Amino acid sequence: MTRAIELHDVSKSYARGPRVVDRLSLAIAPGEFLVLLGPSGCGKSTVLRMIAGLEDIDEGELLLDGAYANHWQPSERGMAMVFQNFALYPNMTGRDNIGFPLRIEDPGADPAPRVCATARMLGIEDLLDRFPSQLSGGERQRVAMGRAISRHPSAFLMDEPLSNLDAKLRNHLRAEISQLTRELGVTTVYVTHDQAEAMSLGDRVAVLRGGVLQQVGTPRQVYALPRNVFSAAFIGTPRINLLRGLVRAPLDGAMTISLGKQALRLPEPLSLDHQLLRVQQGREVIVGLRSEAVRIAKHSSARPGEVAITGLVEHVEFQGHEILVHFDTGSRPAVVPDLEAPRPAARPARRRRREGPTVLDRLRERTGARRAGPVVVLEHARDDGPEPAPPEGRLPGDLVVRTTPDLRLRHGMQVPLLVDLAHLFVFDQHGDRICPSPDRLPDLDE
Ligand SMILES: Nc1ncnc2c1ncn2[C@@H]1O[C@H](COP(=O)(O)OP(=O)(O)O)[C@@H](O)[C@H]1O
Ligand SMILES: [Mg+2]
Repeated sequence: MTRAIELHDVSKSYARGPRVVDRLSLAIAPGEFLVLLGPSGCGKSTVLRMIAGLEDIDEGELLLDGAYANHWQPSERGMAMVFQNFALYPNMTGRDNIGFPLRIEDPGADPAPRVCATARMLGIEDLLDRFPSQLSGGERQRVAMGRAISRHPSAFLMDEPLSNLDAKLRNHLRAEISQLTRELGVTTVYVTHDQAEAMSLGDRVAVLRGGVLQQVGTPRQVYALPRNVFSAAFIGTPRINLLRGLVRAPLDGAMTISLGKQALRLPEPLSLDHQLLRVQQGREVIVGLRSEAVRIAKHSSARPGEVAITGLVEHVEFQGHEILVHFDTGSRPAVVPDLEAPRPAARPARRRRREGPTVLDRLRERTGARRAGPVVVLEHARDDGPEPAPPEGRLPGDLVVRTTPDLRLRHGMQVPLLVDLAHLFVFDQHGDRICPSPDRLPDLDE
């Protein structure tokens, strides 16, 4: 039997601290593979532990197959957890590790047939007589999976089960987990901070930030129509280009989005999506361009729906099958906080440069009790002294474009670029998507 899992406005805090999960609502269908995706510390494990019954729910409801289940014991829920650190008993063989939960469940029954069937399914029959110390990381994780599967659970709850493994093994086991859970048809909630893992595994992906659900949808939906700048930036490699823009919509002229030294001139008649930008006249927005939304126009001219800009080559990243070109287009990047795990040694906060409420203040006001904080930080005021150096780890240049490896580009070249307006995202000052329209239905998978 596989479970439907529903969370309704579920909140949680530890020791009267701030909420680490804030009014989370999610409905997971029986047999579905749902990935909870978000940066470290955003509350993913807490959500999983509440579903498992290992953590109390402060507010809201957990429904299992439609029944109120907040107070059910973990054992009543019949779910199996797989953790990052394998959590095998060191003094038991693989066989006993897999059989142990079966013995607990039904001390009278012989676990051997189920252990063998599980081991066959996972291809680990030859590991059954070894102790965890005699197993590699990947083998240990297979045994841990075996322990979860052998119980025939009503749901799998997996908490970053692959994070301790090297990249090659991770990819391999990722494919195995995907195949296995599909074969078993058991509801799976899978936690990860790795967007590539989330995209490749999930039937749907739920993006979490600071305990607040940002978006839930199929991988295609969240990639193609991110609801806000956080979702846009968290999902996809190379990371989406986010530039600070200013909408100019004069009554007697063409609408443009100024990007610092250059501007995107929106073609007339304005598309329905671009018409939505009128109300942003004179306001700062964030322009989002994935690397495939811009092409290098060395030998071609603009097609309908493309607008031309130029970029100065700052850096060329050779990747074998493609190259990533970092351009300086004279625009300023928008910075999205929380994308990575919090760093222990935080850099000192920037000094305020403007009088009156800053964008940050307004965001705080707007988001109110939601401690998730602003979705975007417009990093520095305009026309205000020299540009600061790019933050650590970020290369110079503000626009990364993907291209074929045969294109020879060198540092310092000035190159014509074409922006495909069909792939243009615009987010408002709060980081919410305004273009394409937020009402646009994600029809991509249906
Ligand atoms: N037992 C606990 N006591 C106090 N704070 C906790 C406890 N567990 C987690 N937290 C805090 O709750 C937040 C969310 O943690 P967690 O759910 O583990 O996030 P994630 O799994 O996304 O990394 C973090 O700020 C973490 O420090
Ligand atoms: Mg965690």
